[in-house]
Amino acid sequence: MNGGAPPLADALRLAAAAWRAFRAGTSLDAALDQAQGGFVAIGTSHPRLAAAAKDIAYTAVRHLALIEALLHKLAHRAPEPAAAALLAVALGQLLAERHAAYAVVDQAVQAAKADAATRAASGFVNAVLRNALRRLPALRPELEREPAVALNAPRWWIDEVRRAEPARFAAILQLQRQPPPLVLRVNVRRAGVEAYLQRLRLEGIAATRVGPTAVWLHEPRPVHDIPGFDAGEVSVQDAGAQLAVPWLELDPGMRVLDACAAPGGKTAQLAEAADRLTIDAVDVDAARAARIEDNLGRTGAREHASIRVCVADAAAPQRYASGRYDRILLDAPCTASGIVRRHPDIPWLRRPADVAQLATAQARLLEALWPLLRPAGRLLYVVCSLFAEEGPQQAEAFARRHADARPVPLAGVGKPQLRLLPAQGDAWRQGLPTVHDGFFFAMFEKT
Ligand SMILES: C[S@@+](CC[C@H](N)C(=O)[O-])C[C@H]1O[C@@H](n2cnc3c(N)ncnc32)[C@H](O)[C@@H]1O
Repeated sequence: MNGGAPPLADALRLAAAAWRAFRAGTSLDAALDQAQGGFVAIGTSHPRLAAAAKDIAYTAVRHLALIEALLHKLAHRAPEPAAAALLAVALGQLLAERHAAYAVVDQAVQAAKADAATRAASGFVNAVLRNALRRLPALRPELEREPAVALNAPRWWIDEVRRAEPARFAAILQLQRQPPPLVLRVNVRRAGVEAYLQRLRLEGIAATRVGPTAVWLHEPRPVHDIPGFDAGEVSVQDAGAQLAVPWLELDPGMRVLDACAAPGGKTAQLAEAADRLTIDAVDVDAARAARIEDNLGRTGAREHASIRVCVADAAAPQRYASGRYDRILLDAPCTASGIVRRHPDIPWLRRPADVAQLATAQARLLEALWPLLRPAGRLLYVVCSLFAEEGPQQAEAFARRHADARPVPLAGVGKPQLRLLPAQGDAWRQGLPTVHDGFFFAMFEKT
């Protein structure tokens, strides 16, 4: 097996298999894992096949509405699901202009022929893609006059983002169609931010400081090729997400609850933030919780802190809590509407009722965690969402229910709440980061 690029036809087939599962409601990453499992089982494998298929599938999701509108226009009959999936991922490649158009068409036809489910449709696949090539220049602007196509999201999702941010919803959704920036958090116990930037310069890696501890690498690269990653000097973490832990203003020896901890990005950051912390890292999802250990091991977090990882519902403290906490970080499950750049499948997987359901789940977690805080202790509520029900409304309803919950200002912000909208700005000088996803933060102190 060579180390070069895998055949495009194989990558298209794998991406198409994942696409089918994704359009039936599976998250794209889970769908890619399942499809990869199937390929390994039939002996079709290449060291870079999974990465190539992932790139193809993600590219297609970033053009999903346009792809489905195009298919509707171009195919004289509705394709079978397997052929529709192959056409979708191939159209994504044509739209993104990643490869020569003739190569995409040729390889898609090869992919169709290689699979029993699409073999009979290979002529159809060929015809639709050739038709697409001819008609794209005229059809694309016409189809993009429809907001759902131009903004690449279901109508209800666009309406929710518009309700949350009436003036900026279109700019937010446009930005969220772009691939995400690769942002690192420098572990300041192991490396200074400026020293790390200097190291990147010496290695010829283009990078910009975009937050107090955040460095944006202009070109994506596999994590193990990031200088200092394996040694725990840096972690991959959005610059907005990096803000939560410093706002907890930790002192040495404090007891901290990381209530929704997996995959442990903030658990590792907590351990770096002050000496001798005792941290309970809780997550309900056992598979995700297993990844916390990986993060702790790589970053050497246990050198500084005593950390217990528990698989439990954070709303059932009798299962994990051993006393009261000085600080609680609730990085709550949410619609994830603020991180669509990283997870472009989200708007297509969510349903309108999810917003209210997740807001109810967040309220339940807040209620269960508040009694675990000692007097004068602080709870930081975080979601990676743009929606008011999960953000300001949630925080305000919580404050109304709890007379002993005093909103306290976030350091450097001067307010107890912050909504951070997704941004791709300039180099950072001071204050809030300049390149980040969307988040909401609210801090409460127990009186
Ligand atoms: C936003 S993610 C947390 C990210 C993590 N704090 C980090 O920085 O890497 C939310 C997490 O909440 C977990 N979760 C959802 N419901 C939960 C519950 N009732 N109790 C504990 N964890 C829960 C999910 O499994 C998910 O891992």
